Amino acid sequence: STVRIIGAPMDFGANRRGVDMGPSAIRYAGLAEELEKAGVDPVDVGDLPIPRAEEIDPENEADGNAKFLDEIEDVSRRLADRVAATLEDGEFPLVLGGDHSIAIGSMHGSAREADLGAIWFDAHADLNTPETSPSGNVHGMPLGAVLGRGSFGEMEWAHAPRIREESIAYVGLRSIDESERELVRNSEMTAFTMSDVDERGMTAVVEDALEVATDGTDGIHVSLDLDMVDPKAAPGVGTPVRGGVTYREAHAALETVSERHKRDDILRSMDVVEVNPILDDRNETAMLAAELTASAFGKRIL
Ligand code: ARG
Ligand code: MN
Ligand code: MN
Ligand code: MN
Repeated sequence: STVRIIGAPMDFGANRRGVDMGPSAIRYAGLAEELEKAGVDPVDVGDLPIPRAEEIDPENEADGNAKFLDEIEDVSRRLADRVAATLEDGEFPLVLGGDHSIAIGSMHGSAREADLGAIWFDAHADLNTPETSPSGNVHGMPLGAVLGRGSFGEMEWAHAPRIREESIAYVGLRSIDESERELVRNSEMTAFTMSDVDERGMTAVVEDALEVATDGTDGIHVSLDLDMVDPKAAPGVGTPVRGGVTYREAHAALETVSERHKRDDILRSMDVVEVNPILDDRNETAMLAAELTASAFGKRIL
């Protein structure tokens, strides 16, 4: 099978902290080689053109309570088209971020012709809206946008009706804003926090998450925010939170996804986000991102 690698070097959603260099770093870390080891055929189509923050009017930063919303809206639209076109061509869209706001485009594109479930591997819930966000950073709002919550102005098209809340499962949560807690609790989503991982182990948790995401859907989107992993193993992320999953647990998580995919052909699209080379330790987090992606596609030790 062919995996189409699409770079989305966007950092407008994360206060320009350096995640725009993520796609390069993940490529240099050997993503294509890792994917070949997993037995898939990677085709890299390069990066989506994204303006440099220096080129745009600094006034755009303050766009209501969602910073750079116009820029993000434009990128999301183009990314959604790319992802949808990739699926139409019979290839698998693998989107490299960039901050987590790119999931707006990748999920919207993936859900155009399918009922889509999702597994959201993340320390954060990313369910804010311009109304609830304490930071104004859109990387904390992608699920809010695709689920049609809040008011995203010109980006309201991002609401993807074929993504139902009850088909989304979080794995790895440990940092929820005070204002976001009730949103998660009152949602139809299933949330597996770090406490669930502690109690039940990663494999069991991800198996349950897969049940949630595959039940009544045509396929699933996997959104991998590297800050799910503990900062000791993934220091190069924009918003690190201690108490995350270990290196091995992270592999177990993605291996569990690939086991299920091998049986039922469930994977439809994926994004790998929030790698920040400025904060990284000799590209270690980008290497982990490449390895974990290969695990998702079936790379095994033996
Ligand atoms: N909840 C915080 C906010 O909305 C942090 C979000 C972090 N998101 C991420 N994709 N790293 O600002
Ligand atoms: Mn505007
Ligand atoms: Mn995230
Ligand atoms: Mn996160």
